[in-house]
Amino acid sequence: MEERLQKFLADCGIASRRRSEDLIRQGLVAVNGSVVTEMGQKIDPDKDEVTFRGQKVTAEQPLTTVMINKPAGYVTTAHDQFARPCVTDLVDMPGLRLYPVGRLDYQTTGLLLLTNDGELTNYLTHPGHHIPKTYEAKLKGAIGEKELGQLRNGVLLDDGYRTSPAQVELVLKAKDYSRIRITIYEGKNHQVRRMAKAVGFPVLKLKRIQEGPLKLGNLKEGQYRILSDSEIQSLKSED
Ligand code: URA
Repeated sequence: MEERLQKFLADCGIASRRRSEDLIRQGLVAVNGSVVTEMGQKIDPDKDEVTFRGQKVTAEQPLTTVMINKPAGYVTTAHDQFARPCVTDLVDMPGLRLYPVGRLDYQTTGLLLLTNDGELTNYLTHPGHHIPKTYEAKLKGAIGEKELGQLRNGVLLDDGYRTSPAQVELVLKAKDYSRIRITIYEGKNHQVRRMAKAVGFPVLKLKRIQEGPLKLGNLKEGQYRILSDSEIQSLKSED
């Protein structure tokens, strides 16, 4: 049966559907030996040969999703141009091409999903789905009720964007630092760090502990585990 080229690439674990469109535009994908750069091309996986960077693309990989506890000092990509450690180095699953779902900053730790399930990536990263993500943040300084209220109601970021309402709990207030738990429903670049900076209490440490219904639990830093079918189903029904 025919399907769109970008959907086929996503289903084969090459990248998310949107990222696959970029790869097509960049001229990295060929169908039956001819490079395709236009969107809308349909292919029949049983008859057509699709290549990405010259390598044949096949749908033989079992759909697999893992949760890792990302340590600080790892980049959230499959390949880094500066040869820094990548989150994909932490997963030893030969033959599987797994890609990060969304992004954690270089120094952020905690829950990150890696998958070859393009549909799941699409679902979780779609801005209209507002998947909640919860972080524990250590902030510089003793934060007050006023700033906690500002974080909850929405703050103006450095680019003029106003954040949507968030859930924020104060966990601990010491003389020169504070700990908060914050749940956001959107995913702007460096969002938690920028929100905290906007209210004058910059982030010292940041860890993601939950995404949708999935909790990091006691998974150790640098470790990973494969998600069960029911965990994947619960993620896909989240909105
Ligand atoms: N917000 C940030 O600022 N950084 C992250 O890594 C995740 C959310």
